[in-house]
Amino acid sequence: MIDKATIQKITDAANIVEVVSDYVHLVRRGRNYVGLCPFHNEKTPSFSVNSVRNFCYCFSCKKGGSPVNFIMEKEGLSYRDALLHLAAKYNIKVEEKELSDDERRQMDERESLLAANEWATTQMEKALRDTEEGRNVGLQYLYQRGVTDEAIRKFRLGYNLDTGHALADLAKLDGVDIPSLIATGVLGESQRMPGASYDRFRGRVIFPVLNPSGKVVALGGRDLKGGMAKYINSPESAIYKKSNELYGIYQAKSEIAKQDNCYLVEGYMDVIGMWQAGMENVVASSGTALTDGQIAMIHRFTENITLIYDGDAAGIKAALRGIDMLLSHKMNVKVLLLPDGHDPDSFARINTPEQFREYVKTNATDIIRFKAQVLLRDVGNDPQRRVAAIESVVQSLSHIPDKVKRNVYVQECSRILGVREDVIESAVEKSRGEIVARQIKQRNQSDVERIETDNRNPHPAVTGNLRSMKTKDLLEQYPYYPFERAIVFLCVRYGMLDFCEVTYEDGSTGMIDVMEYVTDELQDDDIWFSVPAFDKTINCILQLKTDYDLAKQQMAENIAAERESLLKQGYDDIAQKAMNVAEIKREERMLKERVEKEMTEREFNFSRYFIEQRLSSHHDDDVRHIVTEAINSEPPLSNIYLRNNPVSEMQMETERMHTLVQRSILEWKNELLNQKISAKMKSLNGQFSQSAPDEVQTILMEIQALMEKRGMLAKEIGDRTIGKKI
Ligand code: UTP
Ligand code: MN
Repeated sequence: MIDKATIQKITDAANIVEVVSDYVHLVRRGRNYVGLCPFHNEKTPSFSVNSVRNFCYCFSCKKGGSPVNFIMEKEGLSYRDALLHLAAKYNIKVEEKELSDDERRQMDERESLLAANEWATTQMEKALRDTEEGRNVGLQYLYQRGVTDEAIRKFRLGYNLDTGHALADLAKLDGVDIPSLIATGVLGESQRMPGASYDRFRGRVIFPVLNPSGKVVALGGRDLKGGMAKYINSPESAIYKKSNELYGIYQAKSEIAKQDNCYLVEGYMDVIGMWQAGMENVVASSGTALTDGQIAMIHRFTENITLIYDGDAAGIKAALRGIDMLLSHKMNVKVLLLPDGHDPDSFARINTPEQFREYVKTNATDIIRFKAQVLLRDVGNDPQRRVAAIESVVQSLSHIPDKVKRNVYVQECSRILGVREDVIESAVEKSRGEIVARQIKQRNQSDVERIETDNRNPHPAVTGNLRSMKTKDLLEQYPYYPFERAIVFLCVRYGMLDFCEVTYEDGSTGMIDVMEYVTDELQDDDIWFSVPAFDKTINCILQLKTDYDLAKQQMAENIAAERESLLKQGYDDIAQKAMNVAEIKREERMLKERVEKEMTEREFNFSRYFIEQRLSSHHDDDVRHIVTEAINSEPPLSNIYLRNNPVSEMQMETERMHTLVQRSILEWKNELLNQKISAKMKSLNGQFSQSAPDEVQTILMEIQALMEKRGMLAKEIGDRTIGKKI
């Protein structure tokens, strides 16, 4: 753990212009610097660096943030590792904080497993080159498969001698922790001789699996003798969850970001084959279906993924398998089939890198088009199979969260499948509705119900020592926890958006944002967040306000300039088209509307994402966790509205924000009244036994008043939207 003072030292020293300059050529423009965004491919610079606020931001892909945030994003590092990275850059000595016994144990375990793997990897790299057996067997095998020395170094390939105890012996000599080597699967424990250990990877070529920070989390060993298991891999451990790792990510990550695309292949050798052919943005799922965790990892670097498979039946099936999950993650998915019988590794060997790259470029197909074509090709004249094929395409389409994108596909699939567009559309929307309803149900459950029913799992969004609390105890200590949590999440998601117009006492009017509305409402009833982590998060958001106003002003200037240039361009185009006056007027009106809409949406999104951008890499663990969870728990937009009135996402989002914010506050207040009423009831029971009629009367009246108030609230909660607060 890095202590607070050191973190401060690092963040103080880290200069955004210097940090970004390591990756981007920056040019001064006014008070700012601009350059080509390192997070996506672009020809005109939209990446802006503000040296005064020590902040960077891409107006196009919206990535950026503080120096720490930039390094986390760019290098794919954790918060801690990003700090260490910056500390090294600025020669800051990192002081380690005292850890609790529990933290120390976990950290020690991870550290020693990583150290064990690092040691084993280094030994096996050496064995590959520095021993006769390594050269004659291991290296010979790799050369014969066309692997270059450069690739061997880059991917840290190695060899485990075949004696059966080469590493075990060395480990004893070097004083390396044997239990750690056993835990990571480098050594096995002998069944026959307890206490003795042997080399699990004996006689195999070694492929280390590196996490995004370059740490060896697992090893894969390729058999060379035609044995039963072609590959054996490390078992899962404190540092290795198979479903969360991707082979090659460390070597590929910056190229994935730069190319804004990721190739996904099946195996170790495929990654190396592609890499040697000059396609460095490649990772492997290691023979299994993609998982959510792996997709999320890729998503950190790009939204575009190209699946590469063998063109045989199994390859096609594999290509179709993970589609829906990828689409739900908002990924743009392409698929590329290699000629029958080839994987990228074998294909790379019979083609020059240029031919291979050309093949990839010309043959990658959009996955949905691919699916529709493949299914249709297989059905022949069978009407039942045709219906099943269409249904399956509809299923996939309905996993696309973005309405506009969905519609584009509906059109295209209608053409390919020969089915009327409106028929497909209504089927897709129906199925989408079901998916969304399922998701909402799951989320609702995850809010209040889960906290009541599941007290084994410590609840998320409570961090630090709260995290280890049982839910029952948590609710006992913070009875309003679920209500507070709902509001904090809404503040993270919508805090800076305009909420409503208010009339002040002097008769003037003004706009207040969600944060102001929420804090006013709570203070009106004298309530506030009792969970410390929530209180802290809310205060962080409130403190952002000044920054936000500044940034917003600058944003508005940029937008005004752009609006002008878009309009000018548009007028020129219209003038070129020489039409009659009425037509020109109409065209001009449409142009204005279009530009206006685009600019308004841009401004809206800026406000909408400001908080998450600034706080998702916040130094405070509680704040960062809560913000991240708030973003991730965001329910998708309901398409019930969309179907009935085709409004823009912005309008829908605004409407939802109004509903949710008001409703959540009312629900909290309602709960507060419930508590008050039941407290009064209790005191009433006490009074009866002492028979003091006057006091009983008073309490009864108080209860009556509270109940009336609750009745009014209930009615308000019942109404979906509530009028503006005046
Ligand atoms: P493949 O069988 O396609 O292997 O499995 P490959 O990568 O083409 O290997 P070569 O070319 O025969 O040397 C694809 C991936 O599935 C995992 C490995 O990650 C492999 O790269 N796998 C396969 C295993 O983990 N264990 C196995 O026994 C087989
Ligand atoms: Mn292969």
